[in-house]
Amino acid sequence: MGFFDNMRKPQGKLGNIQLKSMNKEHTPVSLWGLKHLDIQPDDIILDVGCGGGININRMAEKAKKVYGVDYSIESVNLSKEVNEKLISEGKVEIYEGNVKSLPFEENTFDIVTAFETVYFWPDIEKCFGEVKRVLKPGGMFLIGMETNGSDNWIMKFWNHFIDMEMHNDEEITSFLENNDYSQITVYLRDGKNKKEIIKSNGSEKTVDDYYNHVSVSDRFVQWVTVTARK
Ligand SMILES: C[S@@+](CC[C@H](N)C(=O)[O-])C[C@H]1O[C@@H](n2cnc3c(N)ncnc32)[C@H](O)[C@@H]1O
Repeated sequence: MGFFDNMRKPQGKLGNIQLKSMNKEHTPVSLWGLKHLDIQPDDIILDVGCGGGININRMAEKAKKVYGVDYSIESVNLSKEVNEKLISEGKVEIYEGNVKSLPFEENTFDIVTAFETVYFWPDIEKCFGEVKRVLKPGGMFLIGMETNGSDNWIMKFWNHFIDMEMHNDEEITSFLENNDYSQITVYLRDGKNKKEIIKSNGSEKTVDDYYNHVSVSDRFVQWVTVTARK
């Protein structure tokens, strides 16, 4: 299993090293994505494709309970390690599982998050339906991506090596619409000008976004967060 395959499904020692690196390298885009979630103390959250588990750790600071799921045993193991204390306190649970068929009852979660993972989901539209099944009515699905499609020289380069499908915000929106999600809102980061473009209900506005986590990635690629309700 090589470096590029490990982005899709981390395995072995190299997979573990890459997951630890992702916990660090994805921090700017993940924290920017999390800005768009208003986590309440009663919330039960599921992080799908949880990778190295750092986002579970962050969300558990505010939520009642956070679950993580990933189809890579390497990801499950590291997520358990990173959240060891919270697991012993009963605040976090991590499971091995595929987003195609989540190992949870319907209407279970207030929030489902997916950071840097939807590129790898098989039949993404169907998977969005599976996420909806486990969301409570009115629950929120948040998708975080470090690129708006592959129409960018950096992403074209990555796409050449990694087996992944990068969708833009319009495609993500249509997958959500086809699953009858409501209140779909797209947030696009304009890192160069420290602005954020917000698309919702067919209208678009630009607001200041002085988010300043050290990162060069938002100068070259457009970050995307999409939220939608069941
Ligand atoms: C690039 S990593 C991102 C990890 C983490 N969310 C982050 O932001 O750092 C993608 C993760 O999604 C997981 N993944 C990919 N496809 C999946 C699927 N069909 N079901 C569950 N997990 C999946 C991979 O195993 C990997 O841990």
